[in-house]
Amino acid sequence: MAAPAHAFTHDGIAFGGDYNPEQWDPSVWEEDVTLMREAGVDLVAINIFGWAGVEPRDGEFTFASLDRIIELLHAADIRINLGTGTASPPAWLTRAHPEILPIAEDGTTRYPGGRQAWCPSSPAFRAAALSLVRAVAERYGSHPAVALWHVSNELGCHNSLCYCDQSAAAFRLWLRARYGSVDALNAAWGTAFWSQTYGDWEEILPPRAALSARNPGQALDFHRFSSDELLDHYRAEAAVIRDLSDVPVTTNFMVAAHIENMDYWQWAGEMDIVANDHYLDYRLGDPRTELSFAADLSRGLALGAPWLLMEHSAGAVNWQPINFPKSPGQMLRNSLTHVARGADAVCFFQWRASVQGSEKFHSAMLPHAGTGSTLWHDVVELGGIISKLDEVAGSRVVADIALVFSWESWWAADAESRPSSALGYLDQVHAVYAAFAALHVTIDVVAPGADLSAYRLVLVPGLHLVRDEEATVINDWISAGGTALVTFFSGIVDENDRVWTGGYTGPFRDALGIAVEEFAPVAPGARVSLGSGAAGTLWSERMHVTTAEVVDSFADGPAAGGPAITRNRWGSGNAWYLSTLLEPQAYRSLAQELVSAAGVESPVPVTGDSDGAVEIVRRRGDISSYVFAINHGSTSVQLQVSGTELITGDNTVATLEVPPGAVRIIREESAS
Ligand code: GAL
Repeated sequence: MAAPAHAFTHDGIAFGGDYNPEQWDPSVWEEDVTLMREAGVDLVAINIFGWAGVEPRDGEFTFASLDRIIELLHAADIRINLGTGTASPPAWLTRAHPEILPIAEDGTTRYPGGRQAWCPSSPAFRAAALSLVRAVAERYGSHPAVALWHVSNELGCHNSLCYCDQSAAAFRLWLRARYGSVDALNAAWGTAFWSQTYGDWEEILPPRAALSARNPGQALDFHRFSSDELLDHYRAEAAVIRDLSDVPVTTNFMVAAHIENMDYWQWAGEMDIVANDHYLDYRLGDPRTELSFAADLSRGLALGAPWLLMEHSAGAVNWQPINFPKSPGQMLRNSLTHVARGADAVCFFQWRASVQGSEKFHSAMLPHAGTGSTLWHDVVELGGIISKLDEVAGSRVVADIALVFSWESWWAADAESRPSSALGYLDQVHAVYAAFAALHVTIDVVAPGADLSAYRLVLVPGLHLVRDEEATVINDWISAGGTALVTFFSGIVDENDRVWTGGYTGPFRDALGIAVEEFAPVAPGARVSLGSGAAGTLWSERMHVTTAEVVDSFADGPAAGGPAITRNRWGSGNAWYLSTLLEPQAYRSLAQELVSAAGVESPVPVTGDSDGAVEIVRRRGDISSYVFAINHGSTSVQLQVSGTELITGDNTVATLEVPPGAVRIIREESAS
């Protein structure tokens, strides 16, 4: 990626959050700024949902409040991450243009009253949004306090898939550009099936609710189109800003477990700096490890460069079925997991807890309970710690392992009519990530087709949709001496969702030395035993080896007697294949074997952590390197490391104890 035209710069690690002063009487604003300074806040996001305030009527702009807020923040040396304000249309706009409202797949309208009620393909919305952006950028584009432009907010959080007539027309244009002719589209979508052949572009619709499973090629392209439409909206806002301002531009991504509709590999290169929002998701089995994965993926999107944690929570959120507060020390640990994994900003949603509106039960840096609370005390403490880490900013994470991640595979693998509805792409990614991360090794997350030459080990979990050339990069890298682990449901379809025939794993088949003949899903709650005594769940396969060696076999279940884990010598490398979801301990043992075989190690040796409760990551700067150790467990662990611990200021020689729940960051004596 070419260096961004406008790089985001900040003195150290930024600390702050979303600030929504429009929800408060101006008498509160001065106190806000005083308390922000007390907490060490130096970057706040404003005007995110400001549209109705800034443009109360069509074309009538009023900036008095925003002017005042900006001057208050500026006077306090707090930098501004300025929202374009377009995240949610004002009531007057959707009244004048009801066609802006999104339509769900069943044809029902999504009305105003919540947020983000706009169709990404609506010309009326686009025009109104760009007029607001122009007005805001004209007014503040050169203001010295504005450090960053924040386009819209979490584009696609609620409105990523719109099925209205305007979306249909835009989808057809997108398809024309992709395929050139209706015949080519028919071939790509396999419309000979079920009499779906199109004769004219105008016959084509988004995949609206149907009586049966919908055409998977159509569904896949609708995902691609929908992601592109939102990216196009980003581009349009960014272009207006760039005309008027030299300040860097970004938007906040949602690299998170429940958000799948944006292919951020396509987006990331257009950001002047990658920014992510992350919330612990207690609907998952292991929210903490998902946090680490999301941070690693955010860094992957930034191609290894530092990125910004634009939002996370100080305590509970309000949008999960049950919203848990953070345990003592957890806010610090969560924040520093992001920093360890490459973030140069720790920001929250939001600064002051709302007393009205649907987020009144969402935590904030300044809670309803006020400054006498433990949470406020923890925020101030965190701000103090962040300020001690300023020298870490700009350094880069060191990783020997790459994990190949694909939004297209997520969309295709989780589509309707799959072999097991219990199988989820992201679950498989998380499972392999967790098995390796527990060994204290660091993982970069990369796009299919990415250069792998910097790595010793490559993980390919469930890469369902793969192009020949993407598989070739992996196969060639193995052949040149690499070690890779490919897991089940990889290499199943090409970019048009057309099955690779001749034995599954398609373009990986030769490198793996296997051919998968039939999928044999395992019923929920059931297990399959392996010859080694290990067990798997969820999935098994009937397959045969061609050149691979069988490392472990299914002892029972639908694939009894067949291979479960294989290893193939491919060129001078080794290609491993796993055809079941190993139970966590067995998965970790396999990971250990691969890590040892590939010569991958923890950044520094650690003892006392048998259950993988400690994260250890190294960031390397021009002058020094930094080892982060985050102990999520209930016992002390020992690191072999020498240097200066940045939180306590202590010097450590040879061994450092990290108490339960603690975080330690060591500036190593010499960059290694
Ligand atoms: C984010 C959003 C914020 C706030 C937050 C609550 O998705 O950007 O505005 O709603 O979630 O967790």
